[in-house]
Amino acid sequence: MLSKDVLMGSGSGFGKVILFNEHFVVHGVPGIVSAIDSVAHAEVKEAGEGLSIKDERKGAIGYTEKKLIQQKESIDRMFKAMGINSEKTSLEIRLGGNLPSFSGIGASAASSVAIARALAEEFKMDLPDERINEIAYEAEKAYAGTPSGIDNTAATYGGLIWFKKTMTGGPNIIEKLCLKEPVEIIIGNTGIVADTKEMVAGVAARKQKTPEKYNLLVKHAEELVFKARTALRAFDLRKVGKLMNENHRLLQEIEVSCRELDHMVSLARERGALGAKLTGGGGGGCMVALTPRKDLQEKVAAAFEEEGFKVLRTKIGV
Ligand code: PMV
Repeated sequence: MLSKDVLMGSGSGFGKVILFNEHFVVHGVPGIVSAIDSVAHAEVKEAGEGLSIKDERKGAIGYTEKKLIQQKESIDRMFKAMGINSEKTSLEIRLGGNLPSFSGIGASAASSVAIARALAEEFKMDLPDERINEIAYEAEKAYAGTPSGIDNTAATYGGLIWFKKTMTGGPNIIEKLCLKEPVEIIIGNTGIVADTKEMVAGVAARKQKTPEKYNLLVKHAEELVFKARTALRAFDLRKVGKLMNENHRLLQEIEVSCRELDHMVSLARERGALGAKLTGGGGGGCMVALTPRKDLQEKVAAAFEEEGFKVLRTKIGV
């Protein structure tokens, strides 16, 4: 086992927004994700007895409490993956940063990457990003059950990414995509803290029960994401928006949307967003609207805020 002799380690991980194919990506369909300019930050230092976690992130009411058990399991998993003996540690982990702890924007993956980097620094391990990504994937199992790996990949590397999980156990396909210039988006939060693990398990159960229906939807999601990649590369934002709308319809079909998400998606479109869809695990959590240029972004954000929803004004392709 490793010995610890550095005073403090720190690290960060990016938040993310899935633009295409959350859930489908768990079943081997490619997805497109963009990191956003908000990060989770972690600091690890020797303190007290055993392990204590100070979660100082701002976000949805009840998020920290609801995720506490999964968070502990995720840290245990990271300790194991990194060869750290949790019984012999006296560590304090502090979590902060400007990424709000909303469901759906990769708050868990960003925090896992941040903690893995902080632990690596604290224990003087020189770990490449590839290894940090693997460790964060282990941690994600606590939050998502059978994660695809898309969240931890975006949290580790940042940027706009084409991601495909390799279902046979080999390395996943991870490709950076280039956008001509960054584009404004709005992330709207329903305020509902969702359980990604339950949502992922629900889709898997329904897929098993009605395979014909799901096979068709999977095929559609696959065709759609290739068109989305072409549209993003061509900077055809109207087309990207249209495809986001179609993607939301597929996500409704697999029953991961909810009344609040549908309402916010409709409102964003009414106010001129080029496209809108839920993002992340669904069942609450967040939605994303494509709102190129500041004035449109502001118009859509104001509509949400008037109704009391919290919003994040950010960009993709930064
Ligand atoms: O809700 P989030 O931010 O954890 O995103 C989950 C994304 C899923 O596609 C539903 C799960 C996964 O691991 O890909």
